[in-house]
Amino acid sequence: MEKLVVIGSGVVGQATGKGFIAMGHEVVFCDINPETLAKLGSQGHKVCPPELLEQEQGIKAFFLPISTPTVDGKIQLGFLKGAVANLGMGALKKNNDYCIVVVRSTVPPNTTEGSLIPLLEKYSGKKAGKDFGVCMNPEFLREGRALEDFINPDRIVIGEYDKRSGDRLAELYSGFNAPIIRTNIKTAEMIKYASNAFLATKISFVNEIGNLCKKLGIDVYDVTNAMGLDKRIAPHFLQAGVGFGGSCFRKDVEALTHKSKSVNNEARVLSAVLDVNALQPMKIIDMLGQKLGDFNKKRVAILGLAFKDNTDDVRDSPSISIIRNLVDQGADIVCYDPKAENNMKKLFPQIAYAESAVDAIKNADACLVLTAWKEFGKLKDQDFDSMRQRIIIEGRRVLDRTKVRDFEGVCW
Ligand code: UDX
Repeated sequence: MEKLVVIGSGVVGQATGKGFIAMGHEVVFCDINPETLAKLGSQGHKVCPPELLEQEQGIKAFFLPISTPTVDGKIQLGFLKGAVANLGMGALKKNNDYCIVVVRSTVPPNTTEGSLIPLLEKYSGKKAGKDFGVCMNPEFLREGRALEDFINPDRIVIGEYDKRSGDRLAELYSGFNAPIIRTNIKTAEMIKYASNAFLATKISFVNEIGNLCKKLGIDVYDVTNAMGLDKRIAPHFLQAGVGFGGSCFRKDVEALTHKSKSVNNEARVLSAVLDVNALQPMKIIDMLGQKLGDFNKKRVAILGLAFKDNTDDVRDSPSISIIRNLVDQGADIVCYDPKAENNMKKLFPQIAYAESAVDAIKNADACLVLTAWKEFGKLKDQDFDSMRQRIIIEGRRVLDRTKVRDFEGVCW
């Protein structure tokens, strides 16, 4: 059992810490936000504000899963650099034994070696590779399933500053049933971006095929189900719809595109992935326009606000641009989401929020389904009988064709 510290206790930090606890290690969670620590409680682990971290001794590894948002496509490293500087001048300086610093944030290639290690050395007065080790260990965790993904990874990537650093981290992961890939640090940084960019590309690709299928009267799911049986293609991430949302895909593809530009390299596919995704929510608006005509004073029910099911997260959710467009065109919106209502209210306080899907649908001129919540798959034909006009369009494949008649999908 080793003593580990997680600095930055958000979704990734919690999954990392709780995962290592499940593997028998002792974990201290640290965060600059006292509320985050209070919510974590202290059962089965310790919590610690950054200013007290240097009092902890015997630490074997510091994990840094700190968010790296983008502004205008450019990654913001402020939070991460702040935490790294604090770690350098505090706990790393005071920790007497050899320990490793593990960058878990998603950062562009060369960030750890170019910016973070110099900060650690400057503030701790110690030397990387001699007094302490450094690894870059990207995460591939899905929101809502982060702990499960941490415990059952497809692969573990260890970007190591030197062999000793990598050996230490590989030891911590030795109980996991997954291949461990050991690389240099910038390769590990790239593996994370390339993985997310590829998944985003898959989605924009199927959406493009889906848009074409729609025009040709083909159900894209019949196409992708067959495509997915080809082992080289695989069935995952072939679900066409209103496009991807969430906190990672757009941000990471943008950051990679930006990085690419900074070295004079044009990333045409990546730019197209973002363009297709930005336009995809408008496909459903166009379809609605053809059926409904003018949106002014029309009542539109929106089922699903979260960027995917099983989360209250609306960051980059396609529902945002769809609602904004409808509101701008004078539609009366009534929404329903089992979890994401409060988060959407912060963006759209002026629209109506219903207690249930059935309530939202009542008297609506049209209904758009934008998140694949399982409960929408239980809706029955008569649930839609209360609509003023029966216009139902799915942006995610979730309604059950055996229970509901007369609806269509954005790409099917
Ligand atoms: C993603 C990555 O999966 C994860 O590895 C990374 O570390 C963080 O980003 P997450 O954002 O939680 O995870 O959600 P994910 O389940 O990947 O879905 C992202 C978006 O893509 C959702 O809006 C989802 O609806 C959409 N999506 C996904 C599709 O439109 N079609 C698909 O086939 C799959």
